[in-house]
Amino acid sequence: MPHFDHHIFVCINRRPDDDPKGCCAAKGSEAIRVFFKNELKRLGLKGKVRANAAGCLDQCHRGPTVVIYPEAVWYQVKTTEDAAEIVNRHILHGEIVERLLMKD
Ligand code: FES
Repeated sequence: MPHFDHHIFVCINRRPDDDPKGCCAAKGSEAIRVFFKNELKRLGLKGKVRANAAGCLDQCHRGPTVVIYPEAVWYQVKTTEDAAEIVNRHILHGEIVERLLMKD
């Protein structure tokens, strides 16, 4: 049975520009998802960690929304630098990146 150490879900939901809810795609989440995918591959983590595109995770105003399982840690990831820090600290070293945690 396939098993991943971590699953990274990145919301890439897109809404029309005039939708008051906004969306993660308009804040650059598609590039964040591609970055995660490429970074995992570069680090030889393919098959151990997977970055999946997700639909709306119901945190639209806080996005770009990223959630990592099995820990169920929610992050706001605005830049590829943020994503790189999450891979380095959370995925590789098991640390929660406090500064990027999604605020309540
Ligand atoms: S559009 Fe990303 S959480 Fe709703």
